[in-house]
Amino acid sequence: VLELDAASPLLVFGGPYSNVRATEAIRREAERLAIPPDRVICTGDVVAYCAEPEETTELMRDWGCHVIKGNCEEKLAEGAEDCGCNFAAGSACDLLARGWYPFAAARISEASRAWMAALPATIRFRMGGRHFRVIHGGVTETARWVFASDAPTLEAEQEAAQADVVIAGHAGVPFIASTGRGTWFNPGVIGMPANDGTPDGWYGLIHAEREALRLSTHRLVFDSRAAAAAVRRYRYADSYARALVTGLWPSLDVLPSAEQGATGQRLKARSLLIRRAPLAAQGGLAA
Ligand SMILES: [Fe+2]
Repeated sequence: VLELDAASPLLVFGGPYSNVRATEAIRREAERLAIPPDRVICTGDVVAYCAEPEETTELMRDWGCHVIKGNCEEKLAEGAEDCGCNFAAGSACDLLARGWYPFAAARISEASRAWMAALPATIRFRMGGRHFRVIHGGVTETARWVFASDAPTLEAEQEAAQADVVIAGHAGVPFIASTGRGTWFNPGVIGMPANDGTPDGWYGLIHAEREALRLSTHRLVFDSRAAAAAVRRYRYADSYARALVTGLWPSLDVLPSAEQGATGQRLKARSLLIRRAPLAAQGGLAA
């Protein structure tokens, strides 16, 4: 297990989604905060909805931060026919995926595919006496949807993760949830808005605060109009171009009713303090 010094912050984010402008923005943000690449973790889906799949992958590779494999990397590396989200056939998400996935698959280089194939599925580390586990969607299923309002899924996934703090991606909406066994931290995604009616992406920070660790979510502003214009140029998925500008998702199919009900409501940045404690103090965990 990787041991990370709690003395300096960790930056975590998901979903670059082929949005090279958002990826440039998060890299600049890391530089502004003086966070080096080895203290940055991406929860996957480097490539998805937006217009620059290869450019975004090259930028991530050049940056050299930690990246785990999203379902999009899994499928692109395999040369699969679709993104593996298991959207119901004919649903709005299914039809949208039929727009972006072939567009991206046709633009990814062999070198980028090989890089995706070599990405780890999960990362475990210890920081401030706590066990962290980074996953994409769910522990056993890369493309599982885990949302704040779905307590049974959250509890089951936290149990399966065998970690104090799970850092997850995939879902596209940032949240921090306390579960019976620990904390679920989804820092959000950078490459598309969070369906809150603003065009911003989201990222997370973990830093030491006296005898505790603070998990927090933060807005990421990027040039969403230019990102939308790039999507429009290729005419493969105009609804994503609209989403980049309006901050509203083209389909709410995957959202539970509570998250659907929050559509268009401006999200607030959140933070949660967790005690730094040795694992032994809470009964220990399997290695
Ligand atoms: Fe995903």
